[in-house]
Amino acid sequence: MNLGVTIIKGRRSVRKYKDMPLPEEAIHHAFDCAKFAPTARNGQPWVFGVVQNKETLAKLADLATHGKFIKDAAACFAVFGLKDEKFFVEDCCAATENLILALWAYGIGSCWVAGNNMPYAEDVRALLKVPEEYTLVSLIPAGYPEEMTIPAKKELEDITFAEEFNK
Ligand SMILES: Cc1cc2nc3c(=O)[nH]c(=O)nc-3n(C[C@H](O)[C@H](O)[C@H](O)COP(=O)(O)O)c2cc1C
Repeated sequence: MNLGVTIIKGRRSVRKYKDMPLPEEAIHHAFDCAKFAPTARNGQPWVFGVVQNKETLAKLADLATHGKFIKDAAACFAVFGLKDEKFFVEDCCAATENLILALWAYGIGSCWVAGNNMPYAEDVRALLKVPEEYTLVSLIPAGYPEEMTIPAKKELEDITFAEEFNK
């Protein structure tokens, strides 16, 4: 298997982290890989942030209904999209996955925490002082894995077709 495929297939959501900071190099490349995601008309309608301050991590954890583990992450990335751009959700989701895979390439686990359309999206934007023309798409707490679960995936033969759907 080639390296890219190994990284993609080895990724799983990580929600328990070691108490170790992330290297600056990994943070830089996570942002840089996010920015290389494809976007409609190459619009790049986004801004990416990272939070490492423990108090702010705790506030994000309080806000995110299903992201209480953000509190114990080494860092939490946030992807915000320009809400007037037609495809900002698709674009920002592509960036989110690039960012997650870039972290994983450094051995750093993370978990996509829902942001788009969530009731706390506006509070997260205000907490991080992001301008109003943006809206939260995803939160990505990250850290070196303390524990990892391996959820099963559907069988390829059950979810693919060639030429025509023929079930
Ligand atoms: C759009 C989206 C929103 C998600 N939101 C949450 C969330 O709020 N909390 C959480 O613990 N996991 C969240 N996840 C992670 C999924 O639960 C996880 O990807 C799924 O269970 C499959 O596991 P895997 O990532 O280990 O393959 C989200 C994933 C996506 C793509």
